[in-house]
Parts: sequence; C-alpha cells; structure tokens
Amino acid sequence: MELRTAIRLRRAVRDYTEAPVSAAVLRDLISAASWAPSAMNEQPWHFTVVTDAALLDEISRCSKEWMLKDVAAMPRPGHFRDLLADPAFHIFYHAPALIVISVPADRQWSTEDCSLAAQNMMLAALEQKLGSCWIGFAQGWLNTEDGLNLLGLALRSRVVAPIIVGYPKAAPPPVARKAPLITWIGKIAVPPEPASPPDIGTRTLIHP
Ligand SMILES: Cc1cc2nc3c(=O)[nH]c(=O)nc-3n(C[C@H](O)[C@H](O)[C@H](O)COP(=O)(O)O)c2cc1C
Repeated sequence: MELRTAIRLRRAVRDYTEAPVSAAVLRDLISAASWAPSAMNEQPWHFTVVTDAALLDEISRCSKEWMLKDVAAMPRPGHFRDLLADPAFHIFYHAPALIVISVPADRQWSTEDCSLAAQNMMLAALEQKLGSCWIGFAQGWLNTEDGLNLLGLALRSRVVAPIIVGYPKAAPPPVARKAPLITWIGKIAVPPEPASPPDIGTRTLIHP
C-alpha cells in the first residue's frame, strides 16, 4: 500500500470480528514498530502481547473502576461517568489482541520513542487488513503496581502505548481533520490555502 494512502486510511477501529490474529502477524507488526526512530537509537521499547480474552476483560474492568474514582477530573465527567459505569462498555472493544508498548520508567524521551513505534505498528496493521486503536483508557490502571504485575512487567516500567488490533467488522464513521495551523518563517513563496483542504473529512474507508 502506498504510504500516503496508508496514512490517510488508518483509523481508530472499535468494532472487531472474533477472528484471532496469528502470532506471525503480531510479530510482523512489532517488527514494523521497532523500525521507528528513537532517541540515541536506544530502542527502549518492550512489547507485551495479550491475546487471553479473560485477561483483557480483567484489565478492562480494573481500568474502568480505576478511572471512575477520578472521573470528576476528566474533561467531560458526565459523559465518562455514564460510559465507565456501563457494564457493557469494554475498553478494548473485545479486540482479539492487545500489544502494550512499555519502557523503563526513568528513561527520557520514552513517550516520544513509543509513540513513533505505535504509529508504525498501526500503519503496518492497516497493511495487514487489520484495524487498530490506541487505548489511553488502559494507561492509568496498567501503570499501577497491580497493572504492571498483571502484565509481568517490572515495577520500574512505564506503559506508554496500549494498542488493540483485530479484523474490523465495519469501516469506522468518517472523522474530520482540522486545517493545520501553520506559521511560515523565512523567505518562501507560500501558495494560497485551498478552499477545502483535501485532507479534511474525506476519509471514510479502512481499506481501499
Ligand atoms: C494517545 C491516544 C489515546 C487514545 N485513547 C483512546 C481510548 O482510550 N479509547 C478509544 O476508543 N480511542 C482512543 N484513541 C483514539 C482516538 O480517539 C482517535 O485516534 C481519534 O478520535 C481520531 O480518529 P482516527 O484515529 O480514526 O483518525 C486514542 C488515541 C490516542 C492517540
């Protein structure tokens, strides 16, 4: 798949079939992730692959409980209270696999390194006809002592990017992009802004 097409078609997928993702495919996604740039090329990431549905259910339940305790501090507390209190809401949308990218907690630039790895992984997932979604909802509880223990991670680890993957049931609804805010400094001829930028609100498909 052409790179720009992949960038445009990658979407947060929240509806998955029950089809499992093979270990070979998961390994391929991790391989793509590990080609991301990292500060001083330290490649600090650790990938934890969870395909155990009972464990995913447990992480979802604990994460919801953990967030509910502090829901008043969230941006839309009413909305999130209802969502998190709903027993039917599964933070991983019943995806068959979760890949957690973590790093040693004391390392500088680990957020940047893991975010770049995560984007590579999500683009590689698209190429494999998989959907993916970064699940920030999982980060809070997974970074507690109980969460790290459940994943078998050292207590000095930090979970940066929990990424679900699976085969999409349907194409997600279109999501618009704001026109980018650009400041030009320097002598360069800047063409007038297009009336309707081609990258805004036009993405409706997961796969061409
Ligand atoms: C750091 C981060 C955390 C996110 N956390 C969640 C989450 O917990 N649950 C969820 O459904 N989507 C989550 N998303 C997905 C975003 O909501 C999604 O990327 C955004 O709405 C844009 O849609 P698109 O990815 O389909 O273009 C997260 C994305 C990022 C980058």
